[in-house]
Amino acid sequence: MEIVEVPHPLVAARLTIMRDARTDNAAFRAALADLGAMLIYEAARDLPVENFDVTTPVAVAEGRRLADPPIIVPIIRAGLGMVDPALSMIPDAQVGFIGMARDEKTHEPVPYLEALPEDLAGRTVFLVDPMLATGGSLIHALRLLADRGATGITVVCMVSAVPGVEAVRDSGLPVGRLVTATIDPSLNEDAYIVPGLGDAGDRLYGPRNIDLSDL
Ligand code: PRP
Ligand code: URA
Repeated sequence: MEIVEVPHPLVAARLTIMRDARTDNAAFRAALADLGAMLIYEAARDLPVENFDVTTPVAVAEGRRLADPPIIVPIIRAGLGMVDPALSMIPDAQVGFIGMARDEKTHEPVPYLEALPEDLAGRTVFLVDPMLATGGSLIHALRLLADRGATGITVVCMVSAVPGVEAVRDSGLPVGRLVTATIDPSLNEDAYIVPGLGDAGDRLYGPRNIDLSDL
């Protein structure tokens, strides 16, 4: 698994706004959207293009477009904040959805939604979630994608913790690349990333009100 920790001052500045406990929901959403666009831009760097002729008002130029626009798969809820920025960068991308909530006691993911194409063989897949903590949620999502034939999956996270990165790397699941703004050193006893930014879903949308035993 290739790891790309994007070394850009604008990435660092948006991440700092998101880390700051004083940042309110609206400013957090805005910073996350900006950072999402930057990370998707980086993730798309090596996508294959096809050439075609485009007629300018003056002459014919060589045009380029993505040969195979990716399918963007957010892990709901927090991943939803990365969908609009991804589509602003790649307007012809498709979107699939995986819904999952982490149990606060066990820290295990509890899946509640799967809306994905049946066959992902040969497709370019960007799996997006702002947070990679224990890796449980991402590994579950990767399994769902691998079961549909996806390979070489690009994972885009904003804050990745060392234990989660190692768990994903050791999972044997078909991850080609992890693109991230930072790799933070550790988790606390509640499996929150340290220093991290807190609960990304809550900071985007407010507290979650799902009774996980109903799922
Ligand atoms: C967060 C985050 C990831 C997960 C990461 O979601 O968006 O999906 O936790 O933790 P892990 O690596 O230990 O699995 P959460 O379960 O809090 O749900 P939410 O987005 O609905 O708030
Ligand atoms: N999920 C989050 O939103 N934040 C963390 O620090 C860990 C998991």
